[in-house]
Amino acid sequence: ETADPVGEGGQIVAGTAPGFPPFEMEEGGDLVGFDVDLLEAVVGETDYELSGWETFEFGSLISALTNGRIDVIAAAMTINEEREEVIAFTDAYFEANQSILVASGSDFQPEELSDLGGHPIGAQKGTTGEGIIQSELIDAGDLEESNYNAYDNYVLAVTDLENGNIDAIVVDVPVAETFQQERDVEVAFEYETGEAYGFGVRQNDDQLREALNEGLAAVEENGTYEDISAEWFNT
Ligand code: ARG
Repeated sequence: ETADPVGEGGQIVAGTAPGFPPFEMEEGGDLVGFDVDLLEAVVGETDYELSGWETFEFGSLISALTNGRIDVIAAAMTINEEREEVIAFTDAYFEANQSILVASGSDFQPEELSDLGGHPIGAQKGTTGEGIIQSELIDAGDLEESNYNAYDNYVLAVTDLENGNIDAIVVDVPVAETFQQERDVEVAFEYETGEAYGFGVRQNDDQLREALNEGLAAVEENGTYEDISAEWFNT
């Protein structure tokens, strides 16, 4: 039931899940962000053509890829074994850990994961942040399942955090830092996970994966990767 591979040099459709700044956001009806610029630059180095972007909830991206709605995922998706059972990834293009966000000036100032026990907390459905809440807190018996709130995207989670409906969010560090600049939330602490993001492709799409890897190496070599980083990160 996996869709056919894209022919060599064919047209590809990219999929992402906006609401994850600065990697992918919808601004005035336009899809923008680091992943958008990076994938476009990478594909530009190959003989494939990017015909457009489709947006999904994060948790639907993998099935959209395997069923052929899209040909590549560019969604700050962490490369991990569970996902590699279903799809393939390019080489890593970004490294990240997780952050725990609380409301700005909150009395609740957790310092480690177990401090989140007994508090209503949130993450985006299908993310590695959700996976940590499950494995490190719920499975460990530190958090009641009913205290975990699964959101369609992190923008909704941040709004609930600002409103006091939840006490903390688990989200990738660069995204937490962006929300900290733009919204009434702050990073309480970081939790090291050593994640690396890759572009996702179908397992039968070796040619496309190799072309994207070459494109990635080229944009890293020719300074384009650095230019795109400078545009989206205050580094
Ligand atoms: N890196 C995390 C993961 O792979 C979160 C990615 C969320 N991406 C997004 N576009 N909403 O699970």
